[in-house]
Amino acid sequence: MTFDPKAATKEPPKKVVFRVKRYNPETGKTWWDEYEVETYRGMTVLDALLKIKEELDHTLVLRYSCRMGVCGSCGMIINGMPRLACQTQVAEVASEARPVVTVEPLKNHPVVRDLLTDFTAFFDKHRSVKPYTIRKNKEELETGDMEFLMTPEEHSELYEYTLCIACGLCYSACPVAASDERFLGPQALTYVWRYVADPRDEAWQERLEAVDTEEGPFSCHFAASCSAVCPKMVDPAAAIQRLRSALIKYRMGLYKKKKIARKAEPPKEFKERKPLPPEAKLVEGADLEALEKEPPEIPVDSLLS
Ligand code: FES
Repeated sequence: MTFDPKAATKEPPKKVVFRVKRYNPETGKTWWDEYEVETYRGMTVLDALLKIKEELDHTLVLRYSCRMGVCGSCGMIINGMPRLACQTQVAEVASEARPVVTVEPLKNHPVVRDLLTDFTAFFDKHRSVKPYTIRKNKEELETGDMEFLMTPEEHSELYEYTLCIACGLCYSACPVAASDERFLGPQALTYVWRYVADPRDEAWQERLEAVDTEEGPFSCHFAASCSAVCPKMVDPAAAIQRLRSALIKYRMGLYKKKKIARKAEPPKEFKERKPLPPEAKLVEGADLEALEKEPPEIPVDSLLS
């Protein structure tokens, strides 16, 4: 579900009714509210919701940040489909014949209030698959000259998967996630494949073994709705199939990672650079696993000062 450039040239109907699903956690009540909004060419659903919040109903709750399809925080169900509100033009989803847009919170994520959903469990799953490059030699982390050689072909095999913005639309569309909350889901499994396929990563065996469970890729029914709704054209369904294939071969002792990327010769500036002062290196003896499980709280005040 990508941005439709043709919609930018279309005029939306002059007035559009937004039917918004509301939820109040204090009373446990769910209901629908309707708001009539004057539109303009290029108006997005997020623009319309913010207009509603500013001019018609201050109590409406939603989440957004970048307003440009990057942060992945404005996902919601628009006319029955998971979409990014900031990337959906009103002209795409409303017409003169039907000047009505329905907006609901994402499915498969607990609703906090109105359109705001809780991504804690989703990000826990994301974090559980170790979504970062793992190298066996810890010294490489300390020297700061980590650069590894990859061919354009190797890069193109995983590039698509690096575009994921963790917006949770695929998880919202997934019928397996709807019926089994233990399922890792399309986003986390795509990340597993992204690193198994990455020639710079050396933990492919651990990664394959970690997802060879009931929560892993074999629980996928291959509905492919994840791929149909991805706003970044990632194809999680294909990543899961590749992961399955790799797992079957691995169980039979036939899977071999194509090759591990060679470390590049450090650039001249690195060679001439003085070594880092000891206090700039990783803390000796730091328990990285424990830090990963329980990241330290960073007080917001310290970020503002
Ligand atoms: S507000 Fe960032 S993706 Fe929509």
